[in-house]
Amino acid sequence: MKKLMNNIKFISTGSYIPEKIMTNFDLEKLVDTSDEWIYSRTGIKNRHFSTGENTSDLAVKAAQNAIDKANYDISKIDLIIVATFTPDLMSPSVANFVQAKLGLSKQDITCFDLNAGCTGFIYALNVASQMLKSEKYQSALVIGAEVISKVIDFNDRNTSVLFGDGSGCVLLENIEEIVPAYFYSTSEGELNKTLYVDNVVHMDGKKVYQFALGAVEKAIKKVLEDSQLTLMDVDMIIPHQANIRIIQSVAKSLKIDLNKFFLNIDKYGNTSAASIAIALDEYIETRKNKTQETLLLVGFGSGFTYGAAIITI
Ligand code: UT7
Repeated sequence: MKKLMNNIKFISTGSYIPEKIMTNFDLEKLVDTSDEWIYSRTGIKNRHFSTGENTSDLAVKAAQNAIDKANYDISKIDLIIVATFTPDLMSPSVANFVQAKLGLSKQDITCFDLNAGCTGFIYALNVASQMLKSEKYQSALVIGAEVISKVIDFNDRNTSVLFGDGSGCVLLENIEEIVPAYFYSTSEGELNKTLYVDNVVHMDGKKVYQFALGAVEKAIKKVLEDSQLTLMDVDMIIPHQANIRIIQSVAKSLKIDLNKFFLNIDKYGNTSAASIAIALDEYIETRKNKTQETLLLVGFGSGFTYGAAIITI
């Protein structure tokens, strides 16, 4: 994908995490595992599971959170994209449900879901920014939302300890001034069923791990190359939160201080397409420096898909 600069403004971010916490100790009661194994292999301590709420319920709560923070006039919204692999139904899309739950059914809004596994939020941001840039759209909700607990096989200890539920959202507008934003998204389609979902999640963890190391490194290098920026220009990296060891390895290999990666995997586990969106919202809420910053988002997932974005907030 070629160098892209977009005139998009990040108005606000939001997130929603279901209340119910599942600790590693809770999982010990369901699966043949241990807190020690999970934490040392992944960095995960807790994850949250939905109790009855579906993906659109989580999605609309993250969207409402972003809308409320900006006290935003929702009559301007004309695009809703939800990145997810756990939609409420095969059809209609989660984005349609979000439109309805926001009371916007009579408003002209393009609504659709996008499935690019855990890279979904980066893909969705890329797509939304191109649509806003076309000037046919003015205001977009871009959401990553998952209820993965409904597709977890608790007989499979290789996958059941890794995932959690949650949602994150960004509210974007097109503007006239040039605000740098760069996107790189790609995929290496494969038929080996290394990571796939039918009724439940299946994964060859070791193969995904190996793929992830190369993909994250490549995506970071590519987006920096395309933007002609260096890591010195980046204030914080917001990575997909799948395994802390993947991030530590990439940090070591690219000689990046681990403190430059925003991490919250210990609290939420892997929330797939929601993970970068939740981390972005949390970073923005907790950062001390409220001046303009350059952030690098990077993710990878089933497909295999991977990608990165450099945004200005
Ligand atoms: O979002 C994108 C999707 N997913 C990922 O990014 C995941 C990428 N992969 C990983 O994060 C890691 O490969 C895992 C965390 C999934 C697994 O870590 P690992 O160090 O690659 O472990 P392993 O699969 O090689 O398993 C090592 C041992 C095995 O036992 P033996 O064969 O050595 O006796 C497993 O059976 O650990 C065992 N094991 C467990 N033990 C306790 C696997 N899962 C568990 C478990 N609790 N939950």
